[in-house]
Amino acid sequence: MAAQIQAALRYEGAEAGSSFAGDVIAGLTARPKRLSPKYFYDETGAQLFEAITALPEYYLTRCELEILRERAPDIARFFPADSALVEFGSGSSKKVRMLLAAAPTIAAYVPVDISSQMLIQEAEELRRDHPRLAVLPVVADFTQPFSLPAAAAGMPHTGFFPGSTIGNFEPHDAAAFLRHAGRMLGPGATLLIGIDLVKDASILNAAYDDAAGVTAKFNLNLLARINRGLDADFDLDAFCHQAFYNSERARIEMHLASRKRQRVRVCGRVIDFRAGETIHTENSYKYTAASFKALARGSGWVPVAAWPDPQGYFLVQALARGDD
Ligand code: TRP
Repeated sequence: MAAQIQAALRYEGAEAGSSFAGDVIAGLTARPKRLSPKYFYDETGAQLFEAITALPEYYLTRCELEILRERAPDIARFFPADSALVEFGSGSSKKVRMLLAAAPTIAAYVPVDISSQMLIQEAEELRRDHPRLAVLPVVADFTQPFSLPAAAAGMPHTGFFPGSTIGNFEPHDAAAFLRHAGRMLGPGATLLIGIDLVKDASILNAAYDDAAGVTAKFNLNLLARINRGLDADFDLDAFCHQAFYNSERARIEMHLASRKRQRVRVCGRVIDFRAGETIHTENSYKYTAASFKALARGSGWVPVAAWPDPQGYFLVQALARGDD
């Protein structure tokens, strides 16, 4: 069964996969050193990420789920009848289930994710629970252009981009993503997007540096994955997780810091680290309601409605494509 579904999946990530070595070497030989966050999500990474979303310090998922649960009837009014809901970076289907429950006229669900394992599993469960819904998974790196399944072509499209994942893009890449999503979703499209709001640094810092060390494990898994996949010899105990809010740039920065001067072999190359030198692994930009609306307007979208949680930590923003 799973093999059949896997064969039916459109695999758009094959080229991205083959550049893993090239991306890693380019990042580790750059100054400052960096690694692409898209490589966080192997099977272990996807599981650790699910664990992050349940941490007491990590308020984002809880806040967003609360908004979706409480405001689903309002939100569902923006979904046209017989439309296709396209989720960018679907992971677990917990969030979309709240929308599907409130909008039974959605005809197709197109989850797009780089982690095929999770996609297959969640697609099977959704088909079981929503027998009339066409579940059309696409394995793709949604930061790159990809095509939507032909089976959804005639339907109006609604994009769903939860989790403040847009915050993991540089602002100009976030704008490019919004423009490309608008072109792909087509005339009349709506986009529903989750935004983590600017707030007190102590709350932000705790969310990305939890007491149980799960986020640290998630970050360090990148090195474990490079060891496994690229014949490298990173000593995971010789690096530590660093996460802090950079208020000037309104972003959380995540790094892996070398605990000592050391030399690592990756893909036949030698990479030297100074003590304290870091590999920058990810940013998580925070927006205000106003700064996000400005970004959306500059990228071809019109803000039509927004729903914050009662604490004002998180925002679900609805956008309509501007030129139609
Ligand atoms: N987009 C979410 C955020 O920025 C989830 C996320 C992506 C995340 N990468 C992460 C959370 C790394 C913790 C660590 O919070």
